[in-house]
Amino acid sequence: MIHVALSPTEIRRFAALNLDGVTAIVFDVLRATTSIVTGLAHEVTKIIPVSNIEEAQALKEKDPSVILAGERGGLPIEGFDVGNSPAEFAELAGRTVVMTTTNGTFAIKSVSHASRVYIGALVNLDALADVIFRTRPKRLLLVCAGTGDEFSLEDAIGAGALIARLPDDSGLSDAAIMARSLYERVGDDMLEWFRHTRNGRALLKIGKGADLVDCAQVSRYDVTGILQGDAVVAAK
Ligand code: MLT
Repeated sequence: MIHVALSPTEIRRFAALNLDGVTAIVFDVLRATTSIVTGLAHEVTKIIPVSNIEEAQALKEKDPSVILAGERGGLPIEGFDVGNSPAEFAELAGRTVVMTTTNGTFAIKSVSHASRVYIGALVNLDALADVIFRTRPKRLLLVCAGTGDEFSLEDAIGAGALIARLPDDSGLSDAAIMARSLYERVGDDMLEWFRHTRNGRALLKIGKGADLVDCAQVSRYDVTGILQGDAVVAAK
């Protein structure tokens, strides 16, 4: 069975639910999960998602070699080493990154007790589909991180694009059928759609148009991120 969680309100409830036997894939296409996958594709050692700025700073105090990454309102956080752009994550080979973003890292933390947690993005769609095809989880939960308190279209497009790559016999919830239909409507026109989403418009406004292009590259990387303990690493 495949279900898609479409809103931050639904995601918030997962923290208190038993997710034993569930494989979760978290999508924050613009931009947190795309940045994570990009980092892993460029040999970042691991990425530790944390809930807030103070937690990130405390980890840096303990280990000054870590890179602090993230955003608030789309902008880099004061005192942090990098923001939340995929291109920045491509320059961090061999480093451990501690990351806090508004929705993406929160969504990862909310389902961290699932049996498996993968990081979803358009940039590694085929690699993800391959893992799901090989492991055949009985319960697949696609978590669309959203923007602020709201649903966001780009995450649903990502979830739908993955569903469209999975075998037809996977049972789909109503939300999963909706996400797949949305993707069928979008087709290869991802970038154009991203430019019209709430998050896409906000990123364009702060001069991050290049990030939209990076986030719209389908299956650019053959890597899958998996949560192991408190860190996301490249799945072997
Ligand atoms: C988030 O986690 O809320 C997003 O990645 C925001 C952003 O695009 O920076």
